[in-house]
Amino acid sequence: NEYNEPFRSQFHFSPPANWMNDPNGMVFHKGEYHLFYQYYPDSNVWGPMHWGHATSKNLVEWENLPFAIAPDSLGWIFSGSAVFDSENSSGLGTAENPPLVAIYTYHDNVKGDAGRIDFQTQGIAYSLDDGVTWDKFKGNPVLANPGIKDFRDPKVTKVEIEGKTAWIMSLAVKDKISFYSSPNLIEWTHESDFNPAWAAYGGVWECPDLFPLTSPEGDQKWILLVSINPGGPNGGSATQYFVGDFDGESFTTNQKDIKWLDHGTDNYAGVTWSNVPDSDGRKLFIGWMSNWDYAQVVPTEVWRSAMTFPRTLSLYREGEELWLASNPVKELEQLRDQPSVVKGVKVVLENELLEISLKPKAGDFSATFENEYGEILVIGKRADELFIDRRNSGLTDFKDGFASVMTAPLNELKINELRILLDRSSVEVFVNDGALAMTALVFPEHGYSDLLLDGFEAENKLYSLKSIW
Ligand code: FRU
Repeated sequence: NEYNEPFRSQFHFSPPANWMNDPNGMVFHKGEYHLFYQYYPDSNVWGPMHWGHATSKNLVEWENLPFAIAPDSLGWIFSGSAVFDSENSSGLGTAENPPLVAIYTYHDNVKGDAGRIDFQTQGIAYSLDDGVTWDKFKGNPVLANPGIKDFRDPKVTKVEIEGKTAWIMSLAVKDKISFYSSPNLIEWTHESDFNPAWAAYGGVWECPDLFPLTSPEGDQKWILLVSINPGGPNGGSATQYFVGDFDGESFTTNQKDIKWLDHGTDNYAGVTWSNVPDSDGRKLFIGWMSNWDYAQVVPTEVWRSAMTFPRTLSLYREGEELWLASNPVKELEQLRDQPSVVKGVKVVLENELLEISLKPKAGDFSATFENEYGEILVIGKRADELFIDRRNSGLTDFKDGFASVMTAPLNELKINELRILLDRSSVEVFVNDGALAMTALVFPEHGYSDLLLDGFEAENKLYSLKSIW
């Protein structure tokens, strides 16, 4: 596969062929970042789900591997997570060769088609060869369905509180997150539920993630990510988050308002890597760069969907409150090719893969990508909003509503830097080291040839990026 079709992402992960949605099972192990993903190997639309598989040594270049987990008599393999069971608590490996354990949802489509509601359960699989091949646990499912239709997407975190270690599973249960604990990844005990009245409930809750982060003041806080579909701030699917505390049993927060991880339309179901060494210290995230509103009809044939560029999550304070920043991982620098300082208001673009760093002046601004075919993509600020206008960005007529202007409230945030990553079919925008992020798909048929700058300082930075494929 040449990875060179029209719209094929050049520095984002996409599967060689066919359908992909959520990232799954991300675990760092023996020098490699594993990325599994919701995958249907027989078609370019959603269907019986498998876990596709790729690995990377640097979060930038990816090696495609055969799919890792396939459906069985208990159902299709929906989203979930993977952990390194270093103490062999599960007994599925040995002390000398402890297992990687994947925890995922079984979706029994036969039961579902028969009109039953108890068709989602949780199962586990394990690998004794560093993630290449996986065996299912004989006693599956490990968590039965209690009679509720939406019961899925287990994300397991190793939690150490007051010297005690436990596995904690966060599970999306219709309109709440349920937490379960286990000493061995096999027997699970329900601990608590989380569903504050003020949260976003425009759609079903999916793909949670629970993890600690240190605040700027040095306190340990806990973050809970919750994807929802639909009900996102600019329509369709999106990911909200909560900043709070976790005591080993329940998650609590003083937060009072909805917070979005990314204000664009195209960052969904993202979660973080487990087992990243303390010496690295980063919380590493990747999301599915699409939206359930149109994911299955975007104008690509061979494959469908790419992931966001991997991001580092961190906490920052704005006034009284803590917020989550998401910023491209620093390994992006490895892709920089020609650096140049751009002067003036019109830049002729020599490459279609770009990283651009702009310094806005006070007031409104706009960065306009365009070409002689009338394809125009505008990123800008007006009033107290950041916006991406993709109404005329290229192909849009595959779905009503794709030709949109998406906005993010700035709440008087002063923009010191606007960073833009442009690939063949996506744009990712980061304000002030990721204090605000907006991700959007765009499908220019001819590539943008010019960049027009209005409202920025006289000198800005631009890098051509290399393709990873
Ligand atoms: C989120 C999701 C998950 C589910 C998976 C199925 O995009 O709907 O809740 O496990 O996709 O492919």
